[in-house]
Amino acid sequence: MHKILFVCLGNICRSPAAEGVFRHLVEQEGVADQFEIDSCGITGFHAGEKADLRMRDHASRRGIDLTSISRKFRQQDFEDFDLIIAMDGRNFKDLRELDEVGQYTDKIKMFCEYCTNRTESEVPDPYYGGAEGFETVLDIVEDASEGLLKSLLK
Ligand code: 4NP
Repeated sequence: MHKILFVCLGNICRSPAAEGVFRHLVEQEGVADQFEIDSCGITGFHAGEKADLRMRDHASRRGIDLTSISRKFRQQDFEDFDLIIAMDGRNFKDLRELDEVGQYTDKIKMFCEYCTNRTESEVPDPYYGGAEGFETVLDIVEDASEGLLKSLLK
């Protein structure tokens, strides 16, 4: 079983998209039973909320349902998941700092490490921008998800 946690700042845009896209992919590939997939935010500002309506709309146009309810990262997540995947450099740095003695360093990754086509080093925050930003998030997240799945199944 692979236990994967996607992390962004608010858990209403990028990490819900990552969770939904990656879940869709493992279902499509018939390997969903090998995965536990979740997402959360560094902050709890939006805890209890569904993903941002704009993010859900853009994802649904690609046939992907975003069902997550926002929650804040908790220390226990370091134990419960095998991979803790940050959307941007700030999320990555925050996670490394939350891992006070550095015992989970190997679990903490940048999502864009798994990209094979896109050249971005992080998934940019779409919250304050327009429609294009949400499409870019999905483009990057789809590429990184394929790379992540390949890396885990080989
Ligand atoms: P996310 O986007 O980290 O991709 O969920 C954001 C959502 C909310 C805020 C910032 C980023 N906010 O400042 O409320």
